[in-house]
Amino acid sequence: MFERSVKNLKSWKKLESHYKHFKKTEMKDLFDKDADRAAKFTLSLDDALWVDFSKNRVSEKTMTLLMNLARECRLENKIKSMFRGDKINITENRAVLHTALRNRENKPVMVDGKDVMPEINAVFAKMRKFSEDVRYGNFKGHTGKKLTNIVNIGIGGSDLGPVMVSEALKKYWMKGINCYFISNIDGTACAEVLDKLDPETTLFIVASKTFTTIETLTNARTCRKWLADALGEPAVAKHFVALSTNVEKVREFGINPENMFEFWDFVGGRYSVWSVIGLSVAIAVGMDNFEKMLDGAYAMDKHFQEMPLESNIPVVLAMIGIWYNNFAGLHRYAVIPYDQYLKYLPAYLQQMDMESNGKSVDVNGAFVRYATAPVLFGGAGTDVQHSFFQLIHQGTEAVPCDFIIPAISHNEIGDHHEILLANVLAQGEALMRGKTEKEAAEELKKSGKTKEEISFLKRFKSFSGNRPSNFILLKKIDPYSLGALIAMYEHKVFVQGIIWNIDSFDQMGVELGKQMALNILPELQNNVYDLKHDSSTNQLIKLIRRMRK
Ligand code: F6P
Repeated sequence: MFERSVKNLKSWKKLESHYKHFKKTEMKDLFDKDADRAAKFTLSLDDALWVDFSKNRVSEKTMTLLMNLARECRLENKIKSMFRGDKINITENRAVLHTALRNRENKPVMVDGKDVMPEINAVFAKMRKFSEDVRYGNFKGHTGKKLTNIVNIGIGGSDLGPVMVSEALKKYWMKGINCYFISNIDGTACAEVLDKLDPETTLFIVASKTFTTIETLTNARTCRKWLADALGEPAVAKHFVALSTNVEKVREFGINPENMFEFWDFVGGRYSVWSVIGLSVAIAVGMDNFEKMLDGAYAMDKHFQEMPLESNIPVVLAMIGIWYNNFAGLHRYAVIPYDQYLKYLPAYLQQMDMESNGKSVDVNGAFVRYATAPVLFGGAGTDVQHSFFQLIHQGTEAVPCDFIIPAISHNEIGDHHEILLANVLAQGEALMRGKTEKEAAEELKKSGKTKEEISFLKRFKSFSGNRPSNFILLKKIDPYSLGALIAMYEHKVFVQGIIWNIDSFDQMGVELGKQMALNILPELQNNVYDLKHDSSTNQLIKLIRRMRK
């Protein structure tokens, strides 16, 4: 089997030695030396999305070396290979074609010798008809009432995409329609939502690619019972639809396949919001807006395929991430949207990034000898400024940040948005520039502190600076820019997977815990005495059983 470790590539070694010389370089000096730095290190997609990556610990040479690494990893070929429908998900022998769902020019996309576009178009036509019928009251509930409460039951990619996108596009929701989401197996998740609803006006969308996921099926069964208890079993046909690749399991669950919207195994769960998994979004914001989101993603797809690596937004962001993760040893990464509507974006990206690239075995089956996905965390600004930003500014290790900002808010109330924008701009500058002990001492002196106080406090009040951030600027959070933004991150994750030589499209790491839970469940329910776990697990099972008596 052909094996290569990326660490043996010439370009990798060059980056290692470049890092040794470069690591002491201060970003503020790079800015001081080059008045054009910001312009040189900014890229855009149409006028919809701008990425200023100038506040990174990189020089033009760094970027050249990073692009050499991308080329040595044959990135350009790999991009073609994904869009062409090659089976790049090698452990599952599947193509990776979420991009076909937003192939807005409708060019043929072949999988196993068959063009998948006609089927995709047919399912989108069905999705359009159904979403409009629900929105305008042509598809009614069992008792003839309009369905106004849309409940998506799913988990992981079958939840996070619809949750994040529907929240991001809340301003576009049709008046009178409300979306709810049930994901966690914790009964509280179900109870809290059902408590708010009237069965006569509720549509349940059971979203599961495999239709075998225990959380989703358990929640769906509970909701089904709740509905049937209130309206009778025949009502299920008018209040339940399924989104899945698995028609047999949908039928087995008791949903008529006519009420099923299909997608395909070439769409990964965490990449599925573009498919029928977005049905709740389409009902809330309308299919036209859903398609605008596909348009934005398509624009990013074209950019990703056509632009040279140096001016390719996802490639540049990915390679800067590689620089920090694999050369600077920074294994944490924060995404901070300064927009309330994007508050679920970090959670969405956690799955996209960490489920895709949190791997230790490369495509050849060899253990990797380098770090793969960093820990991604985040939250909405300015809330997180008052929680974890202490660590971002003064913690022992720098945390590269992506700041996402819309220039215009959907809610321009007073000067809220300008205060918000001033804050995010200040964060980037403060992280980059920092504050020396001398500057801190001068400030303390001005505020009237004594010599002793100044000498004690100046170190606490200083900031190392040289902490990196990307600024991702959108005009406004609308369906188009949101589509472009999500696709940008998808491709970034793809590029990093190529450099790390891993399969970014399986998720075998989630299986072990699921299997073991299935063994433990009967032990909790049936008081099994012969427990064969480690002493900690045995003890926890016994304690829980005792507490639940
Ligand atoms: O967590 C594992 C996973 O398979 C995710 O990749 C997926 O998004 C989620 O579970 C839900 O899977 P399904 O859509 O098949 O219910």
